[in-house]
Amino acid sequence: MHPMLTIAVKAARRAANAINRASRNLDVLTVKEKVANDFVSEVDHEAEQAIIRTLLEAYPDHSILAEESGAAGRSDYQWIIDPLDGTTNYLHGFPQYAVSIALAHKGIVTQAVVYDPSRNDLFIATRGRGAFLNDTRIRVSKRTRLAGSLLGTGFPFREHAHLDTYLAMLRDVMTRTAGVRRAGSAALDLAYVAAGRLDAFWELGLSPWDMAAGSLLIAEAGGLVGDLEGNATYMSCGHIVAGAPKVFVELLRVLAPHLTPALKNR
Ligand code: IPD
Ligand code: CA
Ligand code: CA
Repeated sequence: MHPMLTIAVKAARRAANAINRASRNLDVLTVKEKVANDFVSEVDHEAEQAIIRTLLEAYPDHSILAEESGAAGRSDYQWIIDPLDGTTNYLHGFPQYAVSIALAHKGIVTQAVVYDPSRNDLFIATRGRGAFLNDTRIRVSKRTRLAGSLLGTGFPFREHAHLDTYLAMLRDVMTRTAGVRRAGSAALDLAYVAAGRLDAFWELGLSPWDMAAGSLLIAEAGGLVGDLEGNATYMSCGHIVAGAPKVFVELLRVLAPHLTPALKNR
């Protein structure tokens, strides 16, 4: 394993220890609402600090972009961290959440870890070396058509700016596929695309830490990732489409008629 990936896995497991420990006693957790419907608990903070400590112990010069504590440091190497992706699920005891850690070098994601502590599923990738789930190589699904595909998505829940557009997209996708799932952890949804458990995924309004690790997993598993027009800006615009290559292309075609100017690349 690449040494930087080894450290990232160590950091993810330390975060997972904090997450698992607190999951036995969810009732006593202090929870804050950052903005409407966007929750953060002391576990998010504790897990994030465990990750940052582990990474900086090994690489003190690297910089950090973390969901709860923001950006720190200046370096060509930047760790992009979501300590607990799926906090709402976690707080309800719904076992679908993950730790997501990615390393970008000069803006290109080169290492990725998505760890699901409920199932002990460890998804990892190093650029150019493939993607793995618990030491077994993973590939995106072999499906070539939207018909019969199982899709993942995320509902707009924080602000409802694109809600009507999203619902029109959902209607079109639902009627063309075998099913659509809203599982509640974008990082894990993307890892599922990489593992072929979902054939494709789309969501509007994500943050870099939701997507960084998952997008490398998918690329290394032979899938495609883009914004709503299939271009590379998803990390900055936050709108993402991903999937097995042919399903990805067909999904873009179904979403295209719904793109408002605000959802297109400037
Ligand atoms: C959220 C989850 C969710 C997605 C949201 C994210 P959080 O992350 O990934 O699936 O729909 O957009 O913000 O807040 O639980 O880390
Ligand atoms: Ca997240
Ligand atoms: Ca989070």
